[in-house]
Parts: sequence; structure tokens; C-alpha cells
Amino acid sequence: MPNSRYPLPTPAMSARLLAALALPLLLSSRAWSAPAAAPDTLAQRLAPCLACHQPQGRNDAFFPRIAGKPEGYLYNQLLNFRDGRRQFPMMTYMVGNLPEPYLREIAQFFASQHPPYPPAPPVTATAQMLERGRVLVRQGDAARRIPACVACHGQQLAGVAPAIPGLVGLPRDYINAQFGAWKNKARRAQAPDCMAGIAARLTEADVAAVSGWLASQPVDQAARPAAAPDTPLPMRCGGVPDHGAAP
Ligand code: HEC
Ligand code: HEC
Repeated sequence: MPNSRYPLPTPAMSARLLAALALPLLLSSRAWSAPAAAPDTLAQRLAPCLACHQPQGRNDAFFPRIAGKPEGYLYNQLLNFRDGRRQFPMMTYMVGNLPEPYLREIAQFFASQHPPYPPAPPVTATAQMLERGRVLVRQGDAARRIPACVACHGQQLAGVAPAIPGLVGLPRDYINAQFGAWKNKARRAQAPDCMAGIAARLTEADVAAVSGWLASQPVDQAARPAAAPDTPLPMRCGGVPDHGAAP
């Protein structure tokens, strides 16, 4: 069902939702200014996040892996849920009342985790489609004002610190769902929302080609976000240092 943004509840999902319900309690049980005597650790407090964001694995289409994504990217997403730019009610509910320094700490925690990725599942796509995806990712399409994805996401597609995520290791359906969300404005970033602009220029066939190619790339377990882009970003992106970007 490529058109439905969220899966229908299944028993596994209900268990996830139940785990999540306990979370605000757990998160806030750490009085922000509490004395250090509290026995719990950040890792313990954040364990329920793993009900949906499994530490290993590419996760599935709807529950993204957060481990190892750049810190600034994760932080921006927590703000996006809190401020209504991204919509998954459970996420908004969990992070809605947390102070920004704590959100920063949560982002740092997950950014520093690097559990291994399992091998990529096989992708069904024609050779022609994969080639079209490769060209869009590596070169873009200047005539349609589509910049190459690598210009921002890094030549290795492992992301660029601090706030641009990597694109390998993401499930195909997750990528498709995110593009669908940008197109229908269910997912937004701080202005200027460069990905919304790019998503608007891609046809459905472009998105399918790009997601098919990306999801078929092997993951380099040792890859980490680049420190800076090789060249100035082709567009400005809100919440991202502009690295000398074109306006
Ligand atoms: C009930 C399941 C559930 C739980 C529990 C949960 N999340 Fe999420 N989270 C999601 C879903 C679903 C998405 C993707 C929503 C979307 O597509 O916009 C998401 C997205 C995210 C993202 C953005 C990921 C990305 O790659 O863009 C971050 C960051 C995040 N969650 C952090 C957390 C943290 C931190 C916790 C624990 C405090 C947590 N989540 C607990 C379901 C959950
Ligand atoms: C001008 C810079 C720029 C270009 C070019 C660009 N991106 Fe992005 N992309 C970003 C930024 C910044 C984010 C983080 C947005 C946010 O904070 O929500 C992002 C996020 C994403 C995500 C979300 C990843 C996740 O874990 O949820 C996907 C998927 C993505 N981009 C795919 C692409 C593809 C495919 C292309 C090429 C067709 C592309 N991007 C081109 C800057 C760019």
C-alpha cells in the first residue's frame, strides 16, 4: 500500500504504542535539575524509544533507524515534531514538553550509537530504473532544477555534519513515504525547506527510481557523516549551516 503513510495497527505496533505510552513518565522522571543521585542513566531512560527505533537494522518503512544519524539532524527532527512540522502524534506527545537542552542530549545520545546494519534486502527494479535513479542522485537534472543529491548528502551519501542525514541504509518504502510527506506538506523542515522544493520537482517515477537505487546500495559500516560538503550547497536549507550555499 504505497499510498498509505502509516500502517494499520498490528499486534506488534500496538505493543510499540503501549511502550510509548509509558515514555513521557520515564523521560520526565529525570527531574531536569535533579541531583545526580538518581540511579537511572540516559540509556535506560531512552530504552523505550527502541520499541519503535530498533537499535539494529534498517527498521521498516515507517519506523526509521535513528542510531548514527547526525546530531543536528536528529535535534532538528525532535524540534520538527514538537513544533508540528512533522506529524506523528506519538512522537509529538513524547517530546512535546521536553526542554531543548534535553532534546539536544537525546540527539547526541543516538548520534553516537553505531550498531551494525544488516545486509540490504533485494530491491525489485529494472536496470533502466536503477540507472535513472543513479543519475538523479549523482548528477541531478539541471534542466529541471534538480540538484544532485550528493551535493548536500555527501559524495559517500553518508550525510554531512551537523544536520544533513545519510541516504544509504534507508528502506525504500521509508524514502518513498518521506517524499510523499514532503509533497503533501505532512513533513516540513525549518524554512527555507530545501527538501520540500526538491520533492516538488520530482515525479513519482523519479522518486521510485531514486529510492530503488539508494536502497540497493551496500552500506559501508564504517561510513560517518562528512565534516563539511565538498562544494557550497546548491540551495539553502533551514536548520543547516549554509556552508556558503547559493541563495
Ligand atoms: C510508538 C513508536 C515510536 C516511539 C516509541 C518513538 N518513536 Fe520516534 N518515530 C516514530 C515514527 C513512526 C517516526 C517517523 C514518523 C514520520 O515518518 O514522520 C519517528 C521518527 C523519529 C525521528 C526522526 C527520524 C528521522 O530519521 O527523520 C526521531 C529523531 C525520533 N523519532 C526520535 C525518537 C525518540 C528520541 C524516541 C524516544 C524518546 C522515540 N522516537 C520514540 C515512532 C516512534
Ligand atoms: C540543498 C541540499 C539538499 C539536496 C540537494 C538534497 N537534500 Fe535531501 N535533505 C537535505 C536536508 C537539509 C535534509 C534534512 C531535512 C530535515 O531537517 O527534515 C534532507 C533530508 C532528506 C531525507 C530524509 C532522510 C531521513 O532519514 O528521514 C531524504 C530521504 C532525502 N533528503 C533525500 C534526498 C534525495 C533523494 C535527494 C536528491 C534527489 C536529496 N535529498 C537532495 C538537503 C538536501
